[in-house]
Amino acid sequence: FLFSHQINAQEEAHYDESKVPDYELPNILETSEGDPVSTFNEWRYERRPEIVGIFAEQVYGQMPQHFDSIEFIVVSENGSALNGTATAKEIDITITRNGNSLPIRLNLLIPNDAEKPVPVTLLMNHRGPEYMDITLESKEDFWPAETILQRGYAAAVYSVGDVADDDPDTYTEDILETLYPEQIGQDDGMMALSAWGWGAMRIMDYFETDDDIDQQKSMLVGHSRGGKSALWTGANDERWGIIVANESGAVGAALSKRKFGETVEIINNGFPYWFTPNFEAFNQNESEMPFDQHMLLATIAPRGVYITAAEDDEWADPKGMYESLLHASEVYESIYGISIPLSVRMPAINNPTDNSYAAYHIRDGEHDLKIYDWVQFLNFADRHFHINKTK
Ligand code: GCU
Repeated sequence: FLFSHQINAQEEAHYDESKVPDYELPNILETSEGDPVSTFNEWRYERRPEIVGIFAEQVYGQMPQHFDSIEFIVVSENGSALNGTATAKEIDITITRNGNSLPIRLNLLIPNDAEKPVPVTLLMNHRGPEYMDITLESKEDFWPAETILQRGYAAAVYSVGDVADDDPDTYTEDILETLYPEQIGQDDGMMALSAWGWGAMRIMDYFETDDDIDQQKSMLVGHSRGGKSALWTGANDERWGIIVANESGAVGAALSKRKFGETVEIINNGFPYWFTPNFEAFNQNESEMPFDQHMLLATIAPRGVYITAAEDDEWADPKGMYESLLHASEVYESIYGISIPLSVRMPAINNPTDNSYAAYHIRDGEHDLKIYDWVQFLNFADRHFHINKTK
């Protein structure tokens, strides 16, 4: 759905490369004090934490990790789901702090004939409850669980609305009012995208307890607003092996300083409950930002990061997302010694890059999460995790 002011903003947004201002990106490999970052220790213990701190304070808000208990209850288990090919489990994850509890429902499908433990994919679902129905009707695109299972991966999904509603009026009613009320109203308090990622972290807590799951081979997938949240989750939780940000656009993978398509002001006006109040300081003021989204992507190194775009989705700035990845690849190369052969030019439509660490594709068609996208993610995961398909 679109808010009416957002429709106006979309009309004002431009898609004209000649209107992209001259801009200078902050150097990922230089601290805010101006010190060069060239060793693993300088990156891992100084610059990277500094970057995560900047995004927490200025953009997405805090990701508190203290609670009193977490409980996992398997509420249903069917060993012969999907014509006997999969085991379907519904798991209630309940997190308690100060006597108040938040439940998150996880749906998990594990392929029966694959050798255990299996690699796992988790989709952050911000669409309707139909994607939470593990009988799998009507989801060949957004969550193609059968395809994922056939590739030997577990397919998991949760509804981000369990943690925070995707709604400006009710987003505080779940995690914030229940577990972290002190975050509400802070200039850098937890907001919806942080809350959704927090939920993914609790699901990772569950994966660590399930012997059928190889959580080292885990891929977190978010589409659009979910892709923004997935990137931020990857910055906070290094247990995820791969982060996929599908068409994540503004304040996801795209460079804000390009001001192409959706801008900081447009997104702050349209979705104020996604970002901290602090972030409004950069409305029409991108040149003053001491950070940009390439720095967020770089925090995922040396794990896998997969960025996508769609040809008809200029709102999300396909080129700005590619350039962001190109800049982030500097950390893979100079800190981790992993060569990332990305060309300066964007790849052609439907022509995914084939490296195993920092990859990109732009497919034809509109803004959506399609089976085409998922197949590329699985190909990437096979490469990144060195999974050889024998079937
Ligand atoms: C809107 C919003 C985008 C977001 C998208 C989505 O278009 O402006 O930033 O990515 O919704 O989540 O589909």
